[in-house]
Amino acid sequence: MSGGQRVVIAIDGPAGSGKSSVARAVARELGYQFLDTGAAYRALAWLILERGGDTDDEATVIGSLDALDSLELTVDAAGQRVAIAGHDVTEAIRSERVSAAVSGVARTIPAREAVNVRFRAIIAQATPGIVAEGRDITTVVAPDADVRVLLTADEAVRIRRRFGDVGGDERQVGARLAARDASDSRVVDFLNAADGVTVVDSTDLTFDETVDAIVRLATQEHA
Ligand code: DC
Repeated sequence: MSGGQRVVIAIDGPAGSGKSSVARAVARELGYQFLDTGAAYRALAWLILERGGDTDDEATVIGSLDALDSLELTVDAAGQRVAIAGHDVTEAIRSERVSAAVSGVARTIPAREAVNVRFRAIIAQATPGIVAEGRDITTVVAPDADVRVLLTADEAVRIRRRFGDVGGDERQVGARLAARDASDSRVVDFLNAADGVTVVDSTDLTFDETVDAIVRLATQEHA
């Protein structure tokens, strides 16, 4: 980073890699803002379901994009608030129902383009820096980010972490997680690091070690 400019840290990775909590902790440690881009896809999915629509229907997804004008995404590392069409959906977008439906939104290219405009505007205004996480931040949303990380973990470990998150039958959780990754990776490749992207494999790292690894990358980069 050159003096006085905002620092952008981009983190991509598959479901269950711990991306979101790690990215938030990195932001907190560095005093940066935090952007969970998946929340925008989830908010759209929530709205479509709320209206009785089907997220697998491309025309329905495209028809919902006007509602992005009403999308509120706060970028506070202490807690991101998400609202759409006047509803606070911060909690609701984490439901299994939304998780199961969100891939349809993420597969729709006009939806991706529309949310990316919002993400880039948020990143461009961040002070003094921002940690943005998702699937295509290092490659599409902010390919010029100061620090670009692909956060991975072995599938078994990701399933275990996710299992802790949602409860229920571990095999079912594993199957859902694998299905979502397979569907999502048809649109963006978040399983292989693009040129210049550092892979941080958290399989054998604790949460704190993972956060430290990324903070170190950020501080090295700007030493
Ligand atoms: O990270 P998450 O589970 O909240 O993501 C929700 C969905 O949105 C998931 O299907 C992946 C997709 N997504 C995406 O395609 N691109 C992003 N930058 C962020 C999320």
